[in-house]
Amino acid sequence: MILRGEKVTLRPIAASDLPRFVRWLKNDAVRKGISGNPKGPTVQQEKTWFRGLPKKKKDEKHFAIDTQNDLHIGSASLRLNTTHKRAEIGILIGDTRAWGRGYGKEVMSLLMRYGFEKLKLHRIDLGVYAYNTRAIALYKKLGFKPEGARRDFVFWKGKFYDEILMSMLEKEWKNCQSR
Ligand SMILES: CC(C)(COP(=O)(O)OP(=O)(O)OC[C@H]1O[C@@H](n2cnc3c(N)ncnc32)[C@H](O)[C@@H]1OP(=O)(O)O)[C@@H](O)C(=O)NCCC(=O)NCCS
Repeated sequence: MILRGEKVTLRPIAASDLPRFVRWLKNDAVRKGISGNPKGPTVQQEKTWFRGLPKKKKDEKHFAIDTQNDLHIGSASLRLNTTHKRAEIGILIGDTRAWGRGYGKEVMSLLMRYGFEKLKLHRIDLGVYAYNTRAIALYKKLGFKPEGARRDFVFWKGKFYDEILMSMLEKEWKNCQSR
């Protein structure tokens, strides 16, 4: 499955992408947003994860993010719960030079359209660490609503931080589209 936007294309992840994920996740600024794990994954761990993807492809949709000049800058995913017609959305732009240029917004919009229109989801949700102000601003701008927090959920450099839970329902997404 390929999803095309104006600034980015979302395509299936390839084995040749994996060393870049490992490199990106060595950067505190990137890893801080997605994991409290003090070390990033190894190439071996990424390879094991990648080999397991085909078995999970009904429930997990993973995409690599390319810019229009074919620069691979990150990845994004939907983890589905088909019984309840919902999915958890995730995004990682690993190349920090690509931050603040509207890529995140377009990636999220493409995945949400795919989720609500193609996969007929009722709800898309996410968890974001309280210190991730860039991501929180992005999600609010897209229309996600905060619905609670998991207190002291992540331990980062000696301190605990909440995880904020946010979601969007299909009807809210449709309303955003018609505005
Ligand atoms: C969070 C992330 C996806 C944002 O992607 P991005 O491409 O930088 O976001 P965009 O350029 O589309 O910006 C979207 C909005 O974020 C906000 N934003 C952008 N730069 C910001 C900054 N420096 N500080 C605070 N908010 C900022 C703005 O509201 C912006 O909208 P606007 O440009 O219309 O004003 C990206 O930084 C990332 O992948 N970080 C590492 C992993 C991570 O934290 N993932 C999210 C886990 S929940």
